[in-house]
Amino acid sequence: MIWNRRHLLDLQSLSSEEINLILDVAREFRAVGERDVKKVSALQGKTVVNLFVEPSTRTRISFELAALRLSADVINFTAEASSLKKGETLKDTVRNLEAMNADFIILRHGASGAPHFLSRFARSHVINAGDGAHEHPTQGLLDAFTIRERKGRIAGLKVTILGDILYSRVARSNIWALKKLGADVTLCGPPTLVPRVFEQMGCRVTWNVEEAIRGADVVNLLRIQHERQRKTMFPSIGEYASLFGLNQARMSLLHPEALIMHPGPINRGVEIESELADGGRSVILEQVTNGLAVRMAVLYLINGGRPGEVH
Ligand code: CP
Repeated sequence: MIWNRRHLLDLQSLSSEEINLILDVAREFRAVGERDVKKVSALQGKTVVNLFVEPSTRTRISFELAALRLSADVINFTAEASSLKKGETLKDTVRNLEAMNADFIILRHGASGAPHFLSRFARSHVINAGDGAHEHPTQGLLDAFTIRERKGRIAGLKVTILGDILYSRVARSNIWALKKLGADVTLCGPPTLVPRVFEQMGCRVTWNVEEAIRGADVVNLLRIQHERQRKTMFPSIGEYASLFGLNQARMSLLHPEALIMHPGPINRGVEIESELADGGRSVILEQVTNGLAVRMAVLYLINGGRPGEVH
């Protein structure tokens, strides 16, 4: 199969074949990352702009390193120090970046749909690095990749996503990818953050954490997105930790080989006990390593690269 999209805006519109293509090519790039020489020339002469209008550690640095490993020139745009602060629009900002021949715009923005808006006029390739509570496609892909590499498959696995689902772009991208690849997905958290409307995406919704995680092959823990919540969605952080946090007692309910995942940043002692985050079942840092390979694969495929031709 050949990739034939100009942009990566979401996982909702991707087929399972397209998702598997990215994961297959990511596997090739993970092998590149284990070599002495970790750089390839696929994007030589291309310019990648990291346009992050919301904070990020993992995604921004991972995209920067991915582009550098593909031999691209990389510009890190800092919104706080830019003319966005003087009232310049996102559209004018991108047009000016394109006037300097930017080939890729990697956009993180607080507004859902911002990358889709850019894609309507951009000459460059647009990649969504997280838009509001809508989607975070490369996070969904790296999570699927991590599960597939560890478990050898995704179809038929019991995956529980636990936490703030309502405001989470990571949850939505995970749900799209995992459902398309055949996983059984359960969502759990406080009722105010896990509305039944998510059943329409083919997920099981429960507000009972023990029921949600019993026998799970994978538990993906999500941070409470205080920055997106307009009102208090539960009584206190302490109550959230006691009712929904992953602790030693709850660990015993999982499948003995279960994976513990978290997209980061972690609130230790809230969504997960600190020892479990650093424990043997945690693949949290492996997710970060895999994110680099996945983002290299996305840039490579959008640039016209083909599977099996990574050197
Ligand atoms: N997982 C994730 O998106 O982390 P950052 O916000 O640090 O990029």
